[in-house]
Amino acid sequence: MNCSSENTLLEKSEQEAPVCVGSVENIKKEKRITAVVSGREVVIFYHEDKFYALDMRCYHAGGPLHRGDIEEIDGRACIVCPWHKYKITLAEGEGLYQSVNPSVPTDKPKWCSKGLKQRTHTVTVANGDVYVTLSDTSTSMDSDIYALGSSKKTTDKK
Ligand code: FES
Repeated sequence: MNCSSENTLLEKSEQEAPVCVGSVENIKKEKRITAVVSGREVVIFYHEDKFYALDMRCYHAGGPLHRGDIEEIDGRACIVCPWHKYKITLAEGEGLYQSVNPSVPTDKPKWCSKGLKQRTHTVTVANGDVYVTLSDTSTSMDSDIYALGSSKKTTDKK
């Protein structure tokens, strides 16, 4: 991990405290890493000069998002889950799908939103290190079931 400074909890709760997950240099080199932040499995991506943090297990069935490809869909960077190819925006955790209107023969597939499905977390950079602050979990999100250990039956195997 090579964080240069210790994680400081300051006066914040464990959930709200930024946790160092590695150096900027290393994550830029690796492009993606995984970390456990306050017991939660998180994946951190570095893509086109930005860092993103999401729950590591796909909201659909727990697929390993850190093994997926990143694609641009409608100008938005998305992780494509390696298990069933669900598309999830890196910035918001929004599930995307393609839709056509079958009553219009000339209709072309359009990208539509399923809403926010994958929990994202805040990434900050300080003193050459990358920190993740978990998002507010007072309202549930689909990916919580796999992030909170209530369903640990999934593996990294396809
Ligand atoms: Fe990710 Fe099914 S587990 S698409």
